[in-house]
Amino acid sequence: MDTLKVELGTRSYPILIGAGLLAHAEAVRRHVPGRDLLVVSDTTVAPLYLPALAASLPEQRRLEVILPEGEMHKTLENAARVLDVLVSNRFGRDATVLALGGGVVGDLAGFVAACYQRGVALVQVPTTLLAQVDSAVGGKTAVNHPGGKNLIGAFHQPVAVLADTATLATLPPRELRAGLAEVIKYALLCDAALFEWLEAHLEELLAAKPEALAHVVRRSCELKAMIVGRDEREERGDRALLNLGHTFGHAVESATGYRKWLHGEAVAAGLVMAAAMSRELGLVSPEELVRVHTLIERAGLPTRGAGVGPDAVLEHMRIDKKVLGGRLRLVLLRRIGNAFLTGDYSGEALERTLAVYCG
Ligand code: NAD
Ligand code: GLY
Repeated sequence: MDTLKVELGTRSYPILIGAGLLAHAEAVRRHVPGRDLLVVSDTTVAPLYLPALAASLPEQRRLEVILPEGEMHKTLENAARVLDVLVSNRFGRDATVLALGGGVVGDLAGFVAACYQRGVALVQVPTTLLAQVDSAVGGKTAVNHPGGKNLIGAFHQPVAVLADTATLATLPPRELRAGLAEVIKYALLCDAALFEWLEAHLEELLAAKPEALAHVVRRSCELKAMIVGRDEREERGDRALLNLGHTFGHAVESATGYRKWLHGEAVAAGLVMAAAMSRELGLVSPEELVRVHTLIERAGLPTRGAGVGPDAVLEHMRIDKKVLGGRLRLVLLRRIGNAFLTGDYSGEALERTLAVYCG
């Protein structure tokens, strides 16, 4: 088992990574504090993993809320349902909320933990690749609003992240590939050696080989912990780099009403577009653009927009959270393993990129 640390002063916390971690009672008990515990999970994950987790939990009052699975249930109404359970059972400020599931459960349970009595302890037990490499670490919590994704949220760091990589064995292949898009993102933005490793080991990852998955979970968590440690609230620019591919990807997702692609699939197409625009600007080399394209294609992920025209994508990009002073800032690449945030680029380069990759 590996233990990493997110260094945030008094809010520092460990990330435990290991196959079979849920059955490791001593490790689980050490990291689940509080007198009372509320487990939040979903209808797919709970039958698979709640029994093993429950057997490892400390002796304490434990209640469970099992939500229907899926992004459409990451709502304020479901958060209120979970809050009602905490209130009606008189959970105190020493209670712990534990999220067992993917990013949907993690974001919603995290938001509840941030709000209840102005903040109670949160333990993240991520069970998708996306959640293990990204969403469970870093303290961003949120629910969706009909007006937009993740519009209602808070920063609330967990007290521990327990990532049992054995849970990835039951993940549908499409979900695994979507998680890989986020791993490719880390490699592109700050770790050229990881990119080379992915080129060499992609087939092992697609076959869900445990050692290969454990390697990318560990490395991704190391990178995310480092970035969050430097810029917890996305105020200094470091954390904004984690949005590489996301401005393009979000625009495609929202232009298609979030129905066509999983988030990671949209991010994959967005990574290709960010690399292509960086090429347009004379930054990454033609060979590097081919490598990005090839890796994403080999991962079975999309490399271009979802049939939405360039004008529609551009319109959705303009309402992105990274618009500052009317200027849309983009995360671009100097080369593989080196990303930067900038509002200083030619509009024609953006338009040419969208014309090639969208529609
Ligand atoms: P998800 O939670 O919907 O999980 C995907 C599907 O896999 C669901 O059907 C789930 O029931 C199922 N599942 C989960 N674990 C499983 C397992 N081990 N075996 C079989 N099935 C399993 O989706 P996700 O991709 O994990 O997360 C997406 C969410 O994460 C989005 O809402 C996104 O906004 C959020 N997100 C948050 C952050 C952050 O920093 N907080 C970062 C990235 C994404
Ligand atoms: N997933 C982006 C972030 O955590 O900042």
